[in-house]
Amino acid sequence: MRSDRRIRMGILGSGKGSNMESIVEGCSAGSIPAEPVIVLSDVADAPILERARSYGIRAEYIEPGEFRTKLSPEIEGTYVEALKNAQVDYVVLAGFMRVLKNVFISAFPQRIINIHPSLLPAFPGLAAWKQALDYGVKYTGCTVHFVDEGVDSGPILGQEVVPVMPDDTHETLHGRIQAAEHRLYPAVITALARKKVVVEGRRVRFSYDA
Ligand code: GAR
Repeated sequence: MRSDRRIRMGILGSGKGSNMESIVEGCSAGSIPAEPVIVLSDVADAPILERARSYGIRAEYIEPGEFRTKLSPEIEGTYVEALKNAQVDYVVLAGFMRVLKNVFISAFPQRIINIHPSLLPAFPGLAAWKQALDYGVKYTGCTVHFVDEGVDSGPILGQEVVPVMPDDTHETLHGRIQAAEHRLYPAVITALARKKVVVEGRRVRFSYDA
């Protein structure tokens, strides 16, 4: 990726959109050399849609179909078409609560990234902050990774560690993880925009373009 061009991002979310907001704020401030061009959601009344529109970003609900945790191949095709029409370079998952499958992933090879609220490979899947607190770990955190066909299993781009406090509840721990997410995701996207990404097996490193 050339470093003098702002990368075009399509952002997908199912919830409140605080990560989307931290990314959009970074783009507006000029600290992230990227541009959010479209926001898509599988939840018609997800706050992420209104939040995106309040920044003047095109935001659309795409009906998710019959499955609860994934999209059918046809509906994945509809998402891909919307993202291709918007000419996105990267697909940024920000709380999108469905697993992507082959039609979607093969349309954007190594161009789909996700943020997950734990230090992967620990605690993949739902409510990772609850899993961490209930397991009794002393440190957890958040991870940005490439998306593959598994659940939270793709090569890791970045992580931030968050301590678990003795008096934490599920809510306080998730809040501390989210504060870390709002630092980590903008930092990783900035690196993707400015540097060359080298993926060797599971290992990812960033290097400056020659
Ligand atoms: C974030 O904590 C994100 O890590 C999590 O959903 C939340 C979305 O919050 N994602 C997952 O659990 C995906 N497996 P947001 O809508 O405020 O950005």
